[in-house]
Amino acid sequence: MRAYPSIGGIRTVEDFKSHLASLQLSIPCDVELQTGPTSPLARPISLDGKLIGNRFCIHPMEGWDGTRDGKPSEATLRRWRNFGLSGAKLIWGGEAVAVRHDGRANPNQLLMTEENKSGLAQLLDELVSAHREIGTTDDLLVGLQLTHSGRFSRPNEKTKAEPKVLYHHPTLDARVGIDESFPVLTDGEIREIIDTFLFAVRVANDLGYEFVDIKHCHGYLGHEFLSAHTRPGEFGGSFENRTRFLREITAGVRAVAPKMQIGVRLSAFDLVSYRPDPERGSKGKMGPGIPDVYENYLPYQFGFGVNADRPEEYELTEPRRLLSLMQELDIKLVNITAGSPYYNPHIQRPALYPPSDGYEPPEDPLIGVARQMEATRALKQDFPNLILVGTAYTYLQEFLPYVAQAAVSEGWVDSVGLGRMVLSYPELPLDVISGRVLEHKRICRTFSDCTTAPRNGLASGCYPLDDYYKRTSEATQLKQIKSAKRAALSDKLH
Ligand SMILES: Cc1cc2nc3c(=O)[nH]c(=O)nc-3n(C[C@H](O)[C@H](O)[C@H](O)COP(=O)(O)O)c2cc1C
Ligand code: SF4
Repeated sequence: MRAYPSIGGIRTVEDFKSHLASLQLSIPCDVELQTGPTSPLARPISLDGKLIGNRFCIHPMEGWDGTRDGKPSEATLRRWRNFGLSGAKLIWGGEAVAVRHDGRANPNQLLMTEENKSGLAQLLDELVSAHREIGTTDDLLVGLQLTHSGRFSRPNEKTKAEPKVLYHHPTLDARVGIDESFPVLTDGEIREIIDTFLFAVRVANDLGYEFVDIKHCHGYLGHEFLSAHTRPGEFGGSFENRTRFLREITAGVRAVAPKMQIGVRLSAFDLVSYRPDPERGSKGKMGPGIPDVYENYLPYQFGFGVNADRPEEYELTEPRRLLSLMQELDIKLVNITAGSPYYNPHIQRPALYPPSDGYEPPEDPLIGVARQMEATRALKQDFPNLILVGTAYTYLQEFLPYVAQAAVSEGWVDSVGLGRMVLSYPELPLDVISGRVLEHKRICRTFSDCTTAPRNGLASGCYPLDDYYKRTSEATQLKQIKSAKRAALSDKLH
């Protein structure tokens, strides 16, 4: 099986640039980092008069570590505290908070209820007070990500899928254990879900969150609306119907919380679903990802931002239309991501080491980084007035700051979003902006344990690099789970 060069083995920025050139990737990369208040990454962004103090954003990241009734635990509070200490001035939602119990992605996901209000207030307070320790909070913008997990709901048991789907999907239905006879959500049920989003918006507003993210990414409900081409009725078919969910929630927000900003985290493109190639597993490793069979379903109608004739490629016509619509709706904050961690993780979070339910990378993960960066650049060119956050920078490792600086100064993106990197090394943005040398031992190497752990019923966290998790009994359990999986794969091959 093909192994891709590890970024950790590349010594200098020049070597990294040569490596990018050898892969024919157009990822921009500066050779020297600038520091000081006028440096590209330290320059503020203005949002309706409010300044967002720098160009780093923390992506939402949940930990599967809330209480069963949806309140934050000590580990949740610690993660939000770390987000505050990161130095990033845009906090995109903290983590996915379910608007109702049946839309939770796991039984430990945070849940918006009357009883959980004080927990959500505590999270904001923890983050803001941590940030105050390192600087002013006047230029900090914090939002809350609101979600319904739709097809990927597992509200009651970690191992039991309880999907809520908008339409039947040729490859994803089987993955959540349903077939054509399974009922899709009715228009009436969708309206009830919209009402729960608006309840959540009201609470977020009362608690002092400055924006809400109406999540439209990663295969969850909001994202599924955008690809509901085959659904009849008011919420499917035409572009107008597939965006009704977003439009109705937006109108509701304007009515219940007129001062609240709205953000949308959007899987701006998707590809078909992938699985490990059973023919090419080796030495305890899964096979590299290959697309599920889609040839019988062409033109492909089951994705958003997918090329209908060649669904292994993306296509931005409809995403552009959606961004135009967002502008009309006065939505100014858009966080661009792609695909889904469930069915094409190499698109969504490029990694050298796959999570246990994934597959070996089918491409150099840098190609995955470049794909997201290039799509974001194309959208930024057409929508200069939107504030666009970019995703998938973690895999760049030591070279992340150099690429981030170039991407911002060359206008590819407004704010560089960080996911996994802040789990292993929360203060990276602050270190970069202050011109400090990076701590190499804390750099995320995309081991994927933070995804493998929750896929196997454990809380998420950076088990390999974060002492808080390293010493837990879950770390030992995780090692056992991984070696059992490797052994099972080796047995299969003999
Ligand atoms: C442990 C973990 C939890 C995540 N939780 C969320 C979430 O709650 N909401 C969301 O939109 N994305 C979530 N993501 C995706 C990240 O926000 C981000 O898109 C992804 O990790 C790619 O960015 P990166 O390359 O910087 O890691 C999660 C990712 C990880 C690894
Ligand atoms: S477990 Fe740690 S090193 Fe591995 S991908 Fe997650 S954050 Fe990165």
